[in-house]
Amino acid sequence: MRKIKYGVIGCAGRMGMAHLLLVNNVVADRVKLEALCDLDRDQVTACAGLFPYEVRTFTDYRELLEVTSIDAVIISTPNDTHKQIAVEAFAAGKHVFCEKPLATTLADCDEIIRAADRAQKFLQVGLVYRYSPLYRRMRRLIADGEVGPVHMMWCKELLGSFYGRWRFKEALSGGAIVEKNCHHFDLFNWMIDARPKKVCAFGGQNVMKRGRTVEAIIMDTGEKNVVHDSEIIDNAVVIVEYENGARAQLLLCFFSPYGNDLEVGAIGDAGKVESWVKAHRIHLWRNAQEGRVEVFQPDSDVQQYGVFHSGAYQQHIEFADCILNNSPPVCDGRVGRESIVIALAAQKSIKEERIVHVDEL
Ligand SMILES: NC(=O)c1ccc[n+]([C@@H]2O[C@H](COP(=O)([O-])OP(=O)(O)OC[C@H]3O[C@@H](n4cnc5c(N)ncnc54)[C@H](O)[C@@H]3O)[C@@H](O)[C@H]2O)c1
Repeated sequence: MRKIKYGVIGCAGRMGMAHLLLVNNVVADRVKLEALCDLDRDQVTACAGLFPYEVRTFTDYRELLEVTSIDAVIISTPNDTHKQIAVEAFAAGKHVFCEKPLATTLADCDEIIRAADRAQKFLQVGLVYRYSPLYRRMRRLIADGEVGPVHMMWCKELLGSFYGRWRFKEALSGGAIVEKNCHHFDLFNWMIDARPKKVCAFGGQNVMKRGRTVEAIIMDTGEKNVVHDSEIIDNAVVIVEYENGARAQLLLCFFSPYGNDLEVGAIGDAGKVESWVKAHRIHLWRNAQEGRVEVFQPDSDVQQYGVFHSGAYQQHIEFADCILNNSPPVCDGRVGRESIVIALAAQKSIKEERIVHVDEL
């Protein structure tokens, strides 16, 4: 079998390194890493040294895009750079795996989608939860009618800080809610299976204020993170109403004690389903069986290469398969675009202190 060839842009970052690990271990039978790019020469060289074969190295992504043997690129750079790199990658005839959020504005998402359509190449967005066995099982329980039509959903994302300087600048990240919660709004969209209509949000900087230095614990690793002059909100409550009448609420906090687990739940008229991502556990209550909880722990063995969670493993298998089998990805540009709609509306609602209709965006 011919191996498809990848280039990774932003390879030396936290997520870039995770992609290298996954490409090296999970899809090594069908993917060869052809080239790497990051801004610092020494860091790119060190990344290339992780591979048992020769990998070309660049500090300018445009030079990487000129390598004709590369079939696809993984873009794992800060959010404000995604549009430019993705559009140029499509123009160079590459398939693109772009980290979430696809871009920081809807106009930029649309430009990327148009570039993909023009090039007739695949675009997969790194909304990793769509590939997680946990959420796929939860979605299947809902689609099978186990809780009836979903009327309410909720999500609690209580973290012990962000990391990486660019995340604290709204112009670079798109804002805290865009950067962090596109994942969770995508879960709402997918499970409620409708378009959002109205969004109301409250949020602000209660702890990580401008001019103040905060020492916080990084969410996944437990390392210390010193934050100066943050420009982004550090807590928010977001309420969404969907076109089909379903409602959802999200809590976001960046100064919670380390060690929380992401909770996502849904209630229909026949029951309730709740999930916890680190525990990799789903609880299902059916109204007809009052008091009885059914517990699911789907496919926990696939977490072995699941950097952060098991969807990270599966999304690589499916991106490679989509290129090899010429079949479109589950999480395409349109899914990526929709995942930032609620986030942008929430940020606007906070700034303008009013309910925002998503049609205004
Ligand atoms: N799917 C997930 O669960 C998940 C988790 C974390 C991060 N992310 C996303 O991954 C992306 C990267 O995040 P991160 O945490 O790895 O950030 P990071 O700051 O650790 O890494 C970004 C890397 O990109 C490099 N870079 C910046 N501009 C570049 C350019 N023009 N050309 C080449 N390299 C460039 C930087 O030098 C850095 O090494 C972001 O879009 C983020 O939202 C996704």
